[in-house]
Amino acid sequence: MDERDYEFDERLEFAATPPASRYTDARVLAEERLKVFGRTWQLAGRAEQVAEPGQYFTTEVGGEPVVVVRDAGGTLRALSNVCRHRAGPVAEGCGRRKSFQCGYHGWTYTLDGRLLGTPEFEGVERWSKEENGLPEFRAEEWGALVFVNLDAAAAPLAGTLGDLPALVGERDWASMRPAARKDWHLDCNWKVYVDNYLEGYHIPIVHPSLHRELDYARYRTETRGLSSIQHAPLRPAASRIRRPARADEDGAQFYWVFPNLMLNVYADNYSTNLVVPLGPERTLTVFEWYFRDPDAAGVRGKVAETVEFSDEIQLEDIRICEAVQRGLRSRTYERGRYSVRRENGVHHFHSLLAEFMRAQDRESSIVNRE
Ligand code: FES
Ligand SMILES: [Fe+2]
Repeated sequence: MDERDYEFDERLEFAATPPASRYTDARVLAEERLKVFGRTWQLAGRAEQVAEPGQYFTTEVGGEPVVVVRDAGGTLRALSNVCRHRAGPVAEGCGRRKSFQCGYHGWTYTLDGRLLGTPEFEGVERWSKEENGLPEFRAEEWGALVFVNLDAAAAPLAGTLGDLPALVGERDWASMRPAARKDWHLDCNWKVYVDNYLEGYHIPIVHPSLHRELDYARYRTETRGLSSIQHAPLRPAASRIRRPARADEDGAQFYWVFPNLMLNVYADNYSTNLVVPLGPERTLTVFEWYFRDPDAAGVRGKVAETVEFSDEIQLEDIRICEAVQRGLRSRTYERGRYSVRRENGVHHFHSLLAEFMRAQDRESSIVNRE
């Protein structure tokens, strides 16, 4: 058996966690980039960055340079940000343009990706402008977020989100505006960080201040097709997390969308956290917070308090995730088991991961899983 293959038991009570080598091996990450990041809907940016024709932003999706643009006709597009000549960047940063110009030799492209101008390129045989437009990927929006999928055969975004838009929509997502952003670099595999996010089991030990806010006994995780929800009710004595208006709502809901997007929903704010693998043992996490009227008097202070509390929790998570990464490299550790009561969300993630990694060809039905 290839050391990268492993048996995954769909039964939580019997299952063991993935082998430690899957968290350290560069070949595993290369395969995940193709089979997981290359075939799932990835958060690429914010809808307000591409609200009007001509607006664009550049990003990387699964390691692939992409420019997301609202074209002249108003269609949202995700184009390859790799020039057809000698692979230069056709766009940089973000902004508004009437066409793209490559930053290397100046070839120009329309906002819908057609090749327009090729200075001093006369006389080239067996080549045509028509065949050298920018390759296009899938792009869709949900609320304030823009998603891109590198897989042309992928099912629509709605199939991945399931009932999340309905659940989150109830809590006024549409009226939220970007308020803050924070990037963190971690010395661990991206899955160590995702595993950690998907259980509340570590809260009493790792996050004493969060534990004082949450009703841990009633904390629970619901898994769906390609997502899960952790419900975190507040304790009566909670002081750092704002109480929801309705008594039957959780104080916090932690949504996760396979494989690497977290959406944290509180009574007065939302935050997204995107987990980006940079190397087998190096990960970037990008937090973005959304508030109603973030610039209004009184709200600025709330944003600062929220970010401060989140930073406290994040530093605790980083410390434990980096220690776990060192543990995974130990000669004494190979695989572990799951708490049936507390780690069903982690098992669900590993089950999806095993399913995507098993798929050999693009005809697989995995992206249609409900
Ligand atoms: S690489 Fe783009 S014009 Fe040469
Ligand atoms: Fe945590």
